[in-house]
Amino acid sequence: MNHRREIVICLGSSCFARGNKSLLKIIQRYITQHGLTDKVAFKGDHCFGECHIGPNVKIGGKVYNEVSEDNIHHILAEALQDLLK
Ligand code: FES
Repeated sequence: MNHRREIVICLGSSCFARGNKSLLKIIQRYITQHGLTDKVAFKGDHCFGECHIGPNVKIGGKVYNEVSEDNIHHILAEALQDLLK
């Protein structure tokens, strides 16, 4: 079985209050709609220690800052490009 690409959303209070609460649902929906359920591992984590540049989401080890409803689809499409067929 292939190693799953890890998507980690910061669920620390700052990121959660500033947008990750809704991004959680958006990312979950994106994974389902694009048939990525078996290719990614989606989980939440505690504060990354970078609240001032949040909301933060980590994909494949790379941290994306200032993630919003406006840029999340672009970020996911780029970070998961090779998994989207
Ligand atoms: S709450 Fe997300 S980095 Fe601190």
